[in-house]
Amino acid sequence: MAFAGGKVILFGEHAVVHQRPALAAGIALGVEAAATEADADRLTADPWGVDLAPGEGEGEAADLARAFAVALSLYPEDRPRLHVHAEVGLPGGAGLGCSAALGVAIIHALDDAMGIEREPEARGDVSLAWEKVFHGNPSGVDNMMAAVGGIAVYRRGEPLDPIRARRALPLVIAHSGESSSTKEMVSMVTRQYEREPERVGELFDAIETLVGNAKLAIQDGDLKAVGQLMDMNQALLSGLMLSTEKLERLCKVAREAGAWGAKLTGAGGGGCAIALCDSAEAAKEVEAALAPHASFTAITETRSRGRAQ
Ligand code: PMV
Repeated sequence: MAFAGGKVILFGEHAVVHQRPALAAGIALGVEAAATEADADRLTADPWGVDLAPGEGEGEAADLARAFAVALSLYPEDRPRLHVHAEVGLPGGAGLGCSAALGVAIIHALDDAMGIEREPEARGDVSLAWEKVFHGNPSGVDNMMAAVGGIAVYRRGEPLDPIRARRALPLVIAHSGESSSTKEMVSMVTRQYEREPERVGELFDAIETLVGNAKLAIQDGDLKAVGQLMDMNQALLSGLMLSTEKLERLCKVAREAGAWGAKLTGAGGGGCAIALCDSAEAAKEVEAALAPHASFTAITETRSRGRAQ
């Protein structure tokens, strides 16, 4: 069974689309997939109840069918026909990199079925074609983290820079219940950047500084400092109109319940907030406080590099 994980962006979403670094972490929630020989190519994705042929489908399934066709086009014409069965274990449209995890898991399953060996980074690279179907101009952070896991600094076009954390990062994920489109949020920020290059460029530069400081704080195991930096990143994201009342409430509730810091994660405009806690016990308290305000909560420690947990 192939596995690809979701991710949380701890720092740097959106700025990463515009050549700044982001600091992201793989999470244990993800997608499992397996491919078996069949009469025709097919993709089944549960629990969504999706069953489609490459390139065929309507509405949301149309993108998935197109992406599946793109994934299959990475392989030689004379390959066997394959039925891929994927089990999706994380919410979509939530900022957790669900589409990338699905794409990487499918490509991993296709690789396994055809006896193709690929390094995780290489799998992350080829999966960008899949992500492009959904997001237009993806930075590549989602597919790279889905393929590799661990904690790392990612910058477009550069190799992943893995970070060794002195302490585990107990995180609570809370979904605002609002779904949002990454594609639309990315174009909204890009339009702001085009209209006000100086103001938005300065915000991106400030986010880049946070990424650098956060890397050091994570290496030192200084979770309090990491939390403070997350709060600062959240303020900068609000300045880009990416936060919502619900996300703000989740962050506030998490901080009041003892989290070191909290912010939205991913595209914003809805989706999830993440809160950094001092310990697994503290995370349970924060999760209990968030549950009444969220449509979905989970506690996760960051996923080790390359390993499903
Ligand atoms: O919401 P997600 O999981 O698709 O994350 C998007 C992250 C962005 O920085 C907003 C876009 C990107 O391609 O990096």
